[in-house]
Amino acid sequence: MLNRLEAQSPDALLALIKLFNADPRPDKIDLGVGVYRTADGATPVFAAIKDAEARLVAEQASKSYLGPEGDMGFVNGLVPHIFGDATPAAGRMDGMQTPGGTGAVRLALALAKAAGATRVLMGTPSWPNHAQILADLDLELVGFSHAASDGSADMAALRSALANAGEGDAVLLHGCCHNPTGVDYTHAEWDEIAQLLSDSPVLPVIDLAYQGLGDGMEEDAYGVRAVTKACSEVLVAYSCDKNFGLYRDRVGAFYAITGDAEATKRAMSNAASLARANWSMPPDHGGAAVRLILEDAAMSAKWQDELASMRARIAEVRAALAAASNAGGVNLEPLGRQKGMFGMLPVSKEQVQRLRDEHGVYMAGSGRINVAGLTLGNIEQFIAALAAVTAEG
Ligand SMILES: Cc1ncc(COP(=O)(O)O)c(C=O)c1O
Repeated sequence: MLNRLEAQSPDALLALIKLFNADPRPDKIDLGVGVYRTADGATPVFAAIKDAEARLVAEQASKSYLGPEGDMGFVNGLVPHIFGDATPAAGRMDGMQTPGGTGAVRLALALAKAAGATRVLMGTPSWPNHAQILADLDLELVGFSHAASDGSADMAALRSALANAGEGDAVLLHGCCHNPTGVDYTHAEWDEIAQLLSDSPVLPVIDLAYQGLGDGMEEDAYGVRAVTKACSEVLVAYSCDKNFGLYRDRVGAFYAITGDAEATKRAMSNAASLARANWSMPPDHGGAAVRLILEDAAMSAKWQDELASMRARIAEVRAALAAASNAGGVNLEPLGRQKGMFGMLPVSKEQVQRLRDEHGVYMAGSGRINVAGLTLGNIEQFIAALAAVTAEG
């Protein structure tokens, strides 16, 4: 039977990492893989995580099973950070731990499907795995343009997608730091989105994978809070893999907000059953480390400081790109207004290839760059390379 299987294309970014590692040029630049990097090009373990892990090793008394919901101290500890003053009344919301934000997105969409959703509206381009998960769940993707040509969010496209949607539809929105465009909704736009959704039967699913990497933990939660205040039903997928630097430990959480306590119980019993059939239980270690940080004021302050310095570095690189204003045929100014690690350059596949071959600059074939791959030391080299491949159009 296995002989019948057709080969699937490998993950393009993982293939890019291999090519980058094999490149002997000392001044090569990696703008491909979506992890944060310091000015030295490292992706270090947060000092707060090191402290929490030390405590975990010293104090953890058992590694016995926790159940499909994982570490509820972790799940509940995140609630004030994510929902703040929008935290729904007791009973209207519950959550569970998931293997990364990916597990949370998968669970949210599978639950939407179990509840009767057949179509999911989504701004494009998006994180490629969104479409892959939708296809795997046999949910129809109804795409609309996410970013307008002036570099702001395409609100007209979103308005029209919602106007043409109804019962049986969900909408998947990025909470902040849109991947891949970096184009986020403004607070006024979120207010409008929340209003549109409150008047509509469309189920909001919010993917919040980069809280704290845009404008701040509170600021980046504006959208999720606006929608949670306005709507009786919301699903939220959360990742701690970026804002706690825990990528490989797979730390995520899923929250369901419903109309009342009975509906929440039923939703969570469905979520637990879907989780059990998928991964049974989430890995514990990373979530337990995050819980210890959230429970301890000194460790929390240390984590917030580390997150703030990541945010400041990303903002510094974005400002330097915007200050250069353009590189050959590419306008760099919008990068200064965008949020988070990612942005899209209007470059062709051939230009992406030439950047790699002739200049050692690695980026996704779509033109997505991870701005955290740049430093004040290599930004000029990057801009010169971009100018060289785009100048002649
Ligand atoms: C928009 C978005 N959602 C979810 C995820 C999943 O993150 P993870 O599964 O690594 O926690 C990512 C990761 O790149 C992402 O960009």
